[in-house]
This record gives sequence, C-alpha cells and structure tokens, in this order.
Amino acid sequence: MVNLSHGIAAESGAPVVESEGAWLETPSARIALPVIKVAEGPAGVEVDNLLKETNMVTFDPGFMNTAAVESAVSFVDGDNGILRYRGYPIEQLAANSSFLEVAYLLIYGELPTEQVLKRFSQQVNRHTLLPENYRALLNAFPKTAHPMAMMASAMSALETFYPESLNPRDEDQIDLATTLILAKIRTITSYVFKAMSSKPFLYPDKSRSYVEDFMRMCFAVPYETFDSEPELVRILDKLLILHADHEQNCSTSTVRLVGSSNASVYASVAAGIGALSGPAHGGANEAVLNMLNQIANGEDSVKSFVAKVKDKKDGVRLMGFGHRIYKSYDPRAKIIKTDAHAILDKYGSNDGLLAIARELEELALGDDYFTSRKLYPNVDFYTGLIYRAIGFPPTMFTPLFAFGRTPGWIAQWREMAHDPDTRIGRPRQLYVGQPQRDYLPVSERIMDENAKRIAAPRE
Ligand code: ACO
Repeated sequence: MVNLSHGIAAESGAPVVESEGAWLETPSARIALPVIKVAEGPAGVEVDNLLKETNMVTFDPGFMNTAAVESAVSFVDGDNGILRYRGYPIEQLAANSSFLEVAYLLIYGELPTEQVLKRFSQQVNRHTLLPENYRALLNAFPKTAHPMAMMASAMSALETFYPESLNPRDEDQIDLATTLILAKIRTITSYVFKAMSSKPFLYPDKSRSYVEDFMRMCFAVPYETFDSEPELVRILDKLLILHADHEQNCSTSTVRLVGSSNASVYASVAAGIGALSGPAHGGANEAVLNMLNQIANGEDSVKSFVAKVKDKKDGVRLMGFGHRIYKSYDPRAKIIKTDAHAILDKYGSNDGLLAIARELEELALGDDYFTSRKLYPNVDFYTGLIYRAIGFPPTMFTPLFAFGRTPGWIAQWREMAHDPDTRIGRPRQLYVGQPQRDYLPVSERIMDENAKRIAAPRE
C-alpha cells in the first residue's frame, strides 16, 4: 500500500507531526517529497525522484491532480468562483480595461502606463496587414471548411512569412513574434469569417481601435463607410477579455507542451487552436447554440432534453455546463449573463433562445443531478447568444474564443520559454499491452476472432 502524508508521519496508526513536508510510504521505502509553496491555492508535492527511488510513477489520467508548471499568469479558485489575471480580479478588468491592455498585462506582467499602452497599440497596429500571397492562402479553403481548421492552418502558415521571428532563444525574436501574432490574429479571424461566405477581405484601418477595426473587417463592405455600434464593440472587447487566459486548461497546456520542444510560438499556438476546437473545450459555445436551436425547433422540450442528459444513455451533455475547475458559478458566466440580457433585449432576434437558455439554467440549478455534481453554467453558456446578436454565425463562436485566448497562449508560452526548469514535456505511461513476443512471417500467423475484430480496419 502506498501512503502519502503531508506534514504527518503515519506510525502505528497514529499520525505524528514531523515537520513541513510530505512523505510517501511504500512497503519497501519511505521517501520525503519536497513541498513547493505557492502564493495561493493548493501547494505542490514534488515527485521528480519517485521513479528513481521507488520504480513507480504517478498515475493521473486527465491531470486531475497534477500541476505541470509554476505559473504567475492567471489564478483560478474553482470553489469560490475566482479568476484573476496577474492578480487583478476578472470583474475589474472586464468593467474597466480593454482587450489590448489586458493582452499587455498578461504578456508583460503589469498594467501599462498610458504612454506604454499607446506605443504597444501602435506597434500592434503597424503589423496588422497580411502578405498578399497569405491572403490567397486563406481564400483557398473549401467553403465547407470549419473556421477553426482554417485558423489553425493560418497560424501554422504565418511563421513561414516571418523566419526572423522563430528563434525561441532570442528575446528580440520572441517579442517580434508576440507583436506579429497579436496584430495578425485580428486580421486572420476576420478573413476566416469573410472566406466562409466568399466575401472580399478588407485591409486593416490603423486609425481605428483594435476591436473596432476587427468588427469593421468582419462586417463592412469595401468602399462603403462603416461604423460599428460602440455598445457592440464594447461587449465584444469584454468577451475577448473574459477569454484571454485561464491557467493550464487543455489548449494552454497544449501550447506549452508543443513549445517545450522548442517549437516556435506560431506552431505552439496553432496546436492550441486545434485543442480548443473540441466541443468539450472551446467548441462548447457553438454546441450550446446548436442545443438551444434543437429545443427551439421542437426536437426536444427543455424538460425532455434535461431528462436525456440525466439519462446519460446517449452521452448527451448539457453544453455550457460543468467545468473541470469551477465547482461553483464560473465568474465569467456571471458577468456575461448580465450583459446577455441587456444586449439581447436591444440587438437580439426575437427567437426565444435566451428564454430557453434561462429555462435550462433554472431547471438544472434546481435539479439534484446537476447540483450534486457541482455543474453550473460555464463561460460558454451565454457567449454564443451575444456573438449571434453581434452578427456572427455559430461556426465563428470558437474562432472568436481562439482570438480572445491568443494573448494568454502567448503569455504562457513566454513563461514556459523563460522558465529555467522547463524541460521537454514528456508524460510517462503505465504499459498494459503484450509482453515481448517474436515476429512471425505472414504465412504463419493465426488471428483469433477477437483479435480479428479489433485489429481489422473497418470496411
Ligand atoms: N452535462 C451533464 N453531465 C455532466 C456535464 C454536463 N455538461 N458535465 C459533467 N457531467 C457529469 C458527468 O457525466 C459525470 O457524472 P458521473 O460522476 O455520474 O459520471 C460528472 O458530471 C463529472 O464529469 P466529468 O466529465 O468527469 O468532468 P470533467 O471535469 O472531466 O469535465 C467538462 C469537464 C469537460 C467541461 C464537462 O463538464 C463537460 O463536458 N461540459 C460540457 C461541455 C462544455 O460546456 N465545455 C466547456 C468547458 S469551459 C471551457 O472550455 C472554456
């Protein structure tokens, strides 16, 4: 039996306080495990030497209890519904800051002064144009392509145009890649949107603010004047802020893992976009709208849908509900819920989807299935409704999430690249396959029915 104690040594059943630290007891050894102190949240137990000393590895599918890095970028307290970027509560940033300012904060660690923010905005603005042949590349995808696949490809392709920004050991090159990605992601996201409907791409207008110009590039037509509703620019800015970072989630961990091999920040962010596309992660915002539409179309009622979810037979989940870390209300969902009502009242189509969302939420929050599992609305539950009121189709919801998450990915990549403890990410496994066996020529092989069923490719 393995016995792990923290600050306590188990001897003859009675816990004895020894000193600050943790110990692991196995039948043959008792090993001290250093405890890593943290600013907030659970402390860490270092298990680096476990394999060497015990010939055992830790087993933690889904990284439910594994911290892979020390990070100072963002902090989440899932039990109390807290999210902070670099120490600043998300509520304050959402109410007072701008996306570009938050990007600076996440990447460089402090809120910029007025002068620094101006210079940063100018730098980013200067680089928003995309090379002409790169524009052609974005136009080459089939019209049925999902925009997340286009975005991931676009991010991979971007590095081929800027070889002078690829060296992960060169600070100037890292800074250049940072500015280029922040600048181009707004143009790429708008082009991906335009490409979906074969509409002409618009060049960036440097006289406009970052998010305002993104809206123009999405919704304007060449040579026609266009002004976005300031209220919609502000809400989109806020949504981008809310999505900007969320510590070591699936896509961010992917970015860091890819980056740990010294791959470029472009390659790492492209991989992050791929990870975000899944419906269990960023793809949930699109899935929420599909779910609401399914109910609005009469395929299900709110009650029958919730019953299906609880039944679990078909693997149907209440999309936009539940979170690996938040076991109380996601603070981002709380902020968005209030805005959703105001924006939808003014700009939303009167199709009742918000009413369905509210009914679903109400039913779930009063149902033991959800409350006993601590399932509450996450950030994705209401965002799709707002994106739609702004004018985006459901397939664009996850690309907008990726757009917002880009500063966080860059900040986390940079932290990884600057951390002297970074080593190539390489998890262990518990091997459960065949023991050693000898190769047989094809004529001598016999396959039993079970092996045939498993090993044969589907016809
Ligand atoms: N609807 C119904 N049941 C759920 C849901 C849900 N949305 N989420 C979790 N559960 C149930 C599971 O069936 C499981 O029940 P069980 O204990 O009886 O087996 C229990 O709650 C725990 O679920 P896990 O899948 O183990 O939780 P995990 O932390 O691994 O997953 C996740 C978190 C992926 C977010 C999950 O809650 C989910 O699939 N939610 C729906 C998709 C979604 O909204 N994703 C967006 C997440 S936020 C983001 O990425 C920005």
